[in-house]
Amino acid sequence: MKTALVTGATAGIGAATVRALAGAGWQVVATGRRADRLEALAAAFDGRVHTAAFDVRDADATGAAIEALPEGFRGIDLLVNNAGLALGTKPAQESSLADWRTMIDTNVTALVAITHRLLPTLIERKGGIINLSSVAATYPYTGGNVYGGTKAFVKQFTLGLRSDLHGTGVRVASIEPGMVETEFTLVRTGGNQQASDTLYAGAEPMTAEDIAATVLWIATLPPHLNINSLELMPVSQSFAGFQVARKG
Ligand SMILES: NC(=O)c1ccc[n+]([C@@H]2O[C@H](COP(=O)([O-])OP(=O)(O)OC[C@H]3O[C@@H](n4cnc5c(N)ncnc54)[C@H](OP(=O)(O)O)[C@@H]3O)[C@@H](O)[C@H]2O)c1
Repeated sequence: MKTALVTGATAGIGAATVRALAGAGWQVVATGRRADRLEALAAAFDGRVHTAAFDVRDADATGAAIEALPEGFRGIDLLVNNAGLALGTKPAQESSLADWRTMIDTNVTALVAITHRLLPTLIERKGGIINLSSVAATYPYTGGNVYGGTKAFVKQFTLGLRSDLHGTGVRVASIEPGMVETEFTLVRTGGNQQASDTLYAGAEPMTAEDIAATVLWIATLPPHLNINSLELMPVSQSFAGFQVARKG
């Protein structure tokens, strides 16, 4: 039986990914800060889902949680780097530096640290890494500033890992979704439920289950295949043009 570790499993894409993988017969280590949510998620899977509550930005806590994994869950075959967030919707000149730092610490520094920690096991087991990037990595939009920058890092880090892990058999993929209805917008707007509801209303956004199914598909492809980068959007979403500031 293969074992996956999923970060950010208390909500949205991460929780759906745990359900998809466990439902397909994987063992899963489900992680995130909200222990109660992890416990509720694991309860449905009869011992196949192990929970570990920690803040990914805390390298010591992350290391201790991995060290403390029970024997049957120590051999990680798949790391799903999903924990992440956007904070704020304002243009750079009106944004909070603290918010920028939180995004960099979570989406970049923590992702790099847990990847570094698990690489020896993943190489030993010829495993895989699936990183959650975003369309924001490729297409800039107003208010996307540092969030887009962090996701561009994740996309390029994925390609760099592919290159470095050449010949090891380890697979590395970046998934770059557009609009997915989760708690993402609630977090981004500081808990504004109305803003979240308004964004998704009538838009037929993708669901967390859509992305979880994509994770499962990538994870179960024949071992000679690697998805480098995969961009998905709901049909209702596409591209806006350039903007021009005019004099007078
Ligand atoms: N929703 C979208 O439209 C969309 C589009 C493209 C990419 N993505 C990416 O997909 C990933 C999942 O997002 P989502 O849409 O599922 O959002 P979500 O519903 O808000 O879930 C985010 C998850 O990340 C975890 N997390 C955040 N900060 C953490 C920390 N410091 N330590 C540990 N866990 C932390 C949260 O857990 P706790 O708060 O319990 O710790 C939660 O489980 C993110 O990387 C996001 O950037 C989302």
